[in-house]
Amino acid sequence: MAIDCKNSGAREDFPKDGPKPNYPEERSGWKGYVEWEKYPEKKADAAKVLANYKFPGPPEFQLQQVPLTNPLLEGVRWKQYHYAMGNTLTDQPDISWKYVQEEKSADMNHVLQFPYNGEPPRERLVETSLTNNKDHFVRNHGGIPEIERDAYYLEIDGLVNEPKNLTLADLQNEKLFPRQSNVVSLQCSGTRRIEQINEYPGDGDELINAPWGEGAIGTAKWTGVSLKKIIKHCGGLKDGGKGIHLEFYGADTYFKKGNVMNYVVSVPWRKVKLNEVLVAWEMNGEPLPRIHGFPLRTVVFGYIGARSCKWLYRIKAIKGPSQAPVQKKEYLYYTPQVGKQNAMYSNGFSIMEMPVSSAIMTPVTKEQIVHDGTISLTGWAYSGGGHWPERVEVSGDGGSVWYQVPDENLSKKYYHAWRTWTFDCPVDAEGWLEFCVRTWDNALNTQPTYVRSAWNFDLHVTSSCHRIKIYSINRSKPATAARLKQLEEKGLDILPITRPLEFDLESDEHYAEAMEAMGGRDPEE
Ligand code: MTE
Repeated sequence: MAIDCKNSGAREDFPKDGPKPNYPEERSGWKGYVEWEKYPEKKADAAKVLANYKFPGPPEFQLQQVPLTNPLLEGVRWKQYHYAMGNTLTDQPDISWKYVQEEKSADMNHVLQFPYNGEPPRERLVETSLTNNKDHFVRNHGGIPEIERDAYYLEIDGLVNEPKNLTLADLQNEKLFPRQSNVVSLQCSGTRRIEQINEYPGDGDELINAPWGEGAIGTAKWTGVSLKKIIKHCGGLKDGGKGIHLEFYGADTYFKKGNVMNYVVSVPWRKVKLNEVLVAWEMNGEPLPRIHGFPLRTVVFGYIGARSCKWLYRIKAIKGPSQAPVQKKEYLYYTPQVGKQNAMYSNGFSIMEMPVSSAIMTPVTKEQIVHDGTISLTGWAYSGGGHWPERVEVSGDGGSVWYQVPDENLSKKYYHAWRTWTFDCPVDAEGWLEFCVRTWDNALNTQPTYVRSAWNFDLHVTSSCHRIKIYSINRSKPATAARLKQLEEKGLDILPITRPLEFDLESDEHYAEAMEAMGGRDPEE
């Protein structure tokens, strides 16, 4: 009989009468790293431990209202999974939250408390083209291993000619490896998922498909060594690398459908050969923050963020893509007629290169704006796979008339990074308007028109034109100018538009004059 867990993520509420497993940490100086992949019997044992409990299901937040709390979602079940794993992992939810406080900005939007998923306030994200480390979004699948710098080493094995272990000092030794720095955007495929959720909900997923806004993207200057050079240092690959993937192992613990594992993903050698996979220890000139993978992570240029493995402890050369669940069973893109009724792992395609997309970061939906004929907007535009945004277009009428954002209003071009932009959009109309943005990349790719055009059951890659609805109050219109003046004289504000006016809309004299001019309310008998 499984032990019923209450719907609470508090440690003290977790059943005390469950099994007390002990899964020791694999290496000294690596707190929170339990090795699962090398020990199938340990995995099987942990699955049995989990099976003793009846964990609460994920919350329903799509068909009902997405909460307006911060954190938006707590991740109760995920905390409980960790409590169930015994002493080496029990504290992970608290440790993770501690690093959120220490390493991230105080005003992050916490989309999911544990595993931690968070994005910065919209307006700040595009103030700079390089994202401040404290503001860079975080997408975790588990806790945050605390690895001591001097205890660190990376294993490289599998189909390499000379398997090796390399310390951080080895990797940083420029006599062994040339150092490489690149400006690269990381984008989570969940970016802008909230738009799909709001219009057409989909899979909630076990590790909650977080209701991200437009901030699950960030850009940094990453420094490290090209993985290609590391492979060369290991004598190259068997068979000249034909059909080989490099599998990355992260030291965090992940759970899926009652099984326990490390975070494991892979990329093809073809990508590595282009020097587009960095094994990085620095983010914007600073050692990687713990929450971003200290001391070492991969940064895979132009691919979905999921392949940029944090807390990297092993790289294994294998034939074909990784069979690990994150690679094989997640980050799949389904066609619109595939859903809970017929989805399989094989009928979605594996998301690797990210498509062109963009977002308006300011203003935000429901903002009411008093202006003189132009509204200022800011945003980002990005295209993966080595493409770059070439043209950004903004429409103030839902997508009929498009204005090109002048080139000088776009940040610098990189092969693998976004461009932030600003634009003063001419606006004549008043009332509710739908603004949208679309980007063209250098290969002439552009974005689907509506969320519906690209809805997919797992709610990934919301790359349709980003749309916001704002209320326009155009002071250059005489009637509007007069009303604003009236309000000002009375010390009142036009905002919010939902608050009723405290005075009559017009005088009886003016009303009579207007009626006279229009021939009265009623037509002639
Ligand atoms: N690596 C490990 N070990 N564990 C993780 O949970 N999350 C991945 C990737 N690497 C993840 C990981 C996902 S889905 C994304 S989008 C990026 O890390 C996010 O990187 P960031 O948190 O540094 O922004």
